[in-house]
Amino acid sequence: RKGKTPEDVVKRYWQKVRNPPEEDCTICMETLTGPSGYKGPGVASISRGESVGRLVQCGHLYHLQCLVAMYNNGIKDGSLQCPTCKTIYGVKTGNQPAGKMEYHVIPHSLPGHPDCKTIRLIYNIPPGIQAPEHPNPGKPFTARGFPRHCYLPDNEKGRKVLRLLLEAWDRRLIFSVGTSSTTGESDTVIWNEIHHKTEFGSNLTGHGYPDSGYLDNVLEELKAQGITEVEERHL
Ligand code: APR
Ligand code: ZN
Repeated sequence: RKGKTPEDVVKRYWQKVRNPPEEDCTICMETLTGPSGYKGPGVASISRGESVGRLVQCGHLYHLQCLVAMYNNGIKDGSLQCPTCKTIYGVKTGNQPAGKMEYHVIPHSLPGHPDCKTIRLIYNIPPGIQAPEHPNPGKPFTARGFPRHCYLPDNEKGRKVLRLLLEAWDRRLIFSVGTSSTTGESDTVIWNEIHHKTEFGSNLTGHGYPDSGYLDNVLEELKAQGITEVEERHL
């Protein structure tokens, strides 16, 4: 067989346990001392002899079948995230459609950041056809409200957030395709789990300034996606 199978990927981050404890697998809710409760396709070939193990970094225990099924239900990018503690194995990527991310400094201050200028981010994603990693492959998706403008203070922490957002963009984690919770529209481009400030001088939506906790919050959201540091990048 060519390339890495889903089972190969899971086994990179997983270690067999011979005598599992009397606990339930939190993916299928069946006991770890018995077989996986997962009945779907794609896991039949996994041998029973190596059915339970731990994720190597966090130590959480699962049926191998259950992890392979979970991986198959995701976007299959070679990474795995522990469903219990969210530890990321490998490099997590998303399904953000093709588009453009730009930024520049504007000579105005944001509410709450009177002593510095402002970084404006501009995201532009055109509508298109959904790829295999999207909810309805082959079906069109819409893209509303683009270009979307976002703002960061041009200070040390704001520039750090910018660097990490550029990395998040490269990993396709800023947007996704799905149902908008604001408009209810399905098959459309939506923000993913990294919050942006889309208002400059006002705060009508709650996505504006001042917000003294914003930079720390977004750093946490980036961390939850596996984005903490980037190597050299020239800004
Ligand atoms: N600005 C920034 N973030 C927003 C906004 C907004 N105006 N509205 C919602 N979000 C955040 C939500 O808090 C949530 O965490 O985006 C996440 C996904 O919400 P959805 O409503 O599903 O996202 P989406 O449809 O992409 O955005 C709604 O945001 O930027 C605007 O033009 C966009 O009007 C649209 C609105
Ligand atoms: Zn299980």
